[in-house]
Amino acid sequence: MTRFTVNGQPVHYRMDPATPLLWALRDASNLTGTKYGCGAGLCGACTVHIDGQPVRSCQVPIGSIEGSFVTTIEALSRDRSHPVQQAWVAENLPQCGYCQSGMIMAAAALLDKNRDPSDEEIDAAMTNICRCGTYPRVRRAIRRAGR
Ligand code: FES
Repeated sequence: MTRFTVNGQPVHYRMDPATPLLWALRDASNLTGTKYGCGAGLCGACTVHIDGQPVRSCQVPIGSIEGSFVTTIEALSRDRSHPVQQAWVAENLPQCGYCQSGMIMAAAALLDKNRDPSDEEIDAAMTNICRCGTYPRVRRAIRRAGR
């Protein structure tokens, strides 16, 4: 049994400790805002925060995060008042939308560390892939959210 905290709630999963966090969140906790893209740590669609750091949940075995604090897009968007979420809406950012929960989690983690990132810092932090090519709007939204 693996125990940690998800969005402020204690969880204990009776799953193989090697199960990727992505699948525990989606299948056991029904937190389906975290998306499966590549399953290989490349695309970032599955980004969540663990102890405040952005991580690709498809690459994190649940057995490795005992006692940690996990935050998903559901917690970040709970009351629709998070500055990143508001900036995403203001910039009319998503196109197909599939990658956007991971993008938002990565952006929120960046802004927690740096409220005024340069374009270079944004590009370095935002390694998530968007097949619609929303990258210019992502930059604008991050700058807006940091104001
Ligand atoms: Fe995890 Fe692509 S699904 S990085």
